[in-house]
Amino acid sequence: MRIAALGTYVPQKRLTNDDLARLVDTDDAWIVRRTGIRERRIADEHEYTSDLCLQAVRDMERRGARLDAVDYIIVCTATPDYGFPSVAARLQHRLGLTNCGAIDLTAACAGFMYGLDCADALVNTGRARSVLVAGGETLSKVVDYQDRATCILFGDGAGVALVDAPGDAPPTLLARRAASDGASGKELFLTGLRDEIAGIVEPDRVLRQNGRAVYEWAVTNVSAGICELLDAAELRACDVDWFVPHSANARMIESICKRTGIPYDRALMSLEWCGNTSAASIPLALAPAVHDGRVRPGDVVLLYGFGGGLVENGMLMRWS
Ligand code: UT7
Repeated sequence: MRIAALGTYVPQKRLTNDDLARLVDTDDAWIVRRTGIRERRIADEHEYTSDLCLQAVRDMERRGARLDAVDYIIVCTATPDYGFPSVAARLQHRLGLTNCGAIDLTAACAGFMYGLDCADALVNTGRARSVLVAGGETLSKVVDYQDRATCILFGDGAGVALVDAPGDAPPTLLARRAASDGASGKELFLTGLRDEIAGIVEPDRVLRQNGRAVYEWAVTNVSAGICELLDAAELRACDVDWFVPHSANARMIESICKRTGIPYDRALMSLEWCGNTSAASIPLALAPAVHDGRVRPGDVVLLYGFGGGLVENGMLMRWS
């Protein structure tokens, strides 16, 4: 597979650390020191995930991408507009695409990576010529703004990628890894029809996280997963030109870099000005670096998503 084009969108409204300090007992210095986040973008009351994804596609089109060959849409989100219709079906309709498959995929903060994984299978088998993969979230609609352990983290945004087969060019995917630890589901959840998990009861549609537990799980498992990917591709950490992890927490990414040997200055993140945007965070970090020429053909790029489930998905690719 090849990522042929990228686009992004974030809502206009900003929520700064000082704004949050007026809602809960926190302060800018604590948030910046512990997470690296300075502000997040927040969707309007009547702005939903499909609206954000649509704007991200428009951004990609303005940069020259064409949707003519798209015959499948995968939207990765934990905050769809409805249970159904899917965000993907709404996007298909609003983009005027016909003869096009459309599904939503839920893998929380690893969503975009699972979307790429599925898109890869579709284009490799010839089932699709080109797949539109979107990661979009309106997490502000499910965050409890009285819970200082979570409300300081999350923001809204969307990123999209056009995935196709590389044609006669050498394969771009060097190694991949997907894993899940469902036993730890209670450490990070968003209630839905069910409001109880492992004895914990929370109201409908609220996001809760045991930050410390997820932090430790991610640093241990993502670091080990990265080493596995590098071994599989017979590469070393210093061969990675760009590391694009899920933008959860800068301090955590620094620890992962230390454990794996990937230089921290090769990490691309979107968290400083967008917060943790879950499924949108990887394209929000990758797209600007591709568009401004930092990521160049031939570069070794490591993408790694992790989050609620708990689930993870990583890909090592040579950019084309
Ligand atoms: O995106 C999906 C995956 N998610 C993640 O990867 C998130 C992983 N976890 C994290 O990013 C971090 O655990 C947090 C940023 C959520 C929290 O940072 P931490 O360094 O793990 O803090 P902690 O939960 O261990 O809490 C340390 C202290 C506690 O006070 P005491 O018990 O030591 O007195 C908390 O009550 O910090 C307190 N605290 C806060 N203080 C000021 C917790 N939240 C805040 C806050 N402002 N917003």
